[in-house]
Amino acid sequence: MNAMYDFAPTPDHPGATDKATLHADLLSAARAVTGGEPDAIANMANVAALIWQFMPDLNWAGFYRFDGTELVLGPFQGKAACIRIPLGKGVCGTAAATRETQLVEDVHAFPGHIACDAASASEVVVPIIHEGRLIGVLDLDSPRVSRFDAADAAGLEALCAALAPAFAG
Ligand code: SME
Repeated sequence: MNAMYDFAPTPDHPGATDKATLHADLLSAARAVTGGEPDAIANMANVAALIWQFMPDLNWAGFYRFDGTELVLGPFQGKAACIRIPLGKGVCGTAAATRETQLVEDVHAFPGHIACDAASASEVVVPIIHEGRLIGVLDLDSPRVSRFDAADAAGLEALCAALAPAFAG
């Protein structure tokens, strides 16, 4: 086995008994797979795969990249999704425009939510900022209402802050 994957947990990640542990493990795994790799697309692809592997109850996990004008679909796990999202539109565009995490307990109650997968019930979107520049957003969807809480938001914000250089390319 490649040493890079020695940490890999089973899909249900039984080693993590609480969210703080899960997010700490996710962050160390993400650091390991992105370390030394300058390609932002490759790094986003591997981190989307790790989130999908580590976090239960997701139906979509991935990235939208800011191209200077709008958000464009990046590496993800889940069903095919909408490709371009203007700043200020939907949950992703709101996170990008405000540069603040959007924690949406019920997507059907979020004005302007963009439904890519009808199964989505809750969502968290974290902006990725590197050296003051908007790189994109990390978007997680769940089929369960209120799947994400403040602990998830904090863990994902720490992940995006730590890996922003790896996502900036
Ligand atoms: N629901 C998002 C669109 C992206 S999909 O969830 C993958 C939004 O409202 O911005």
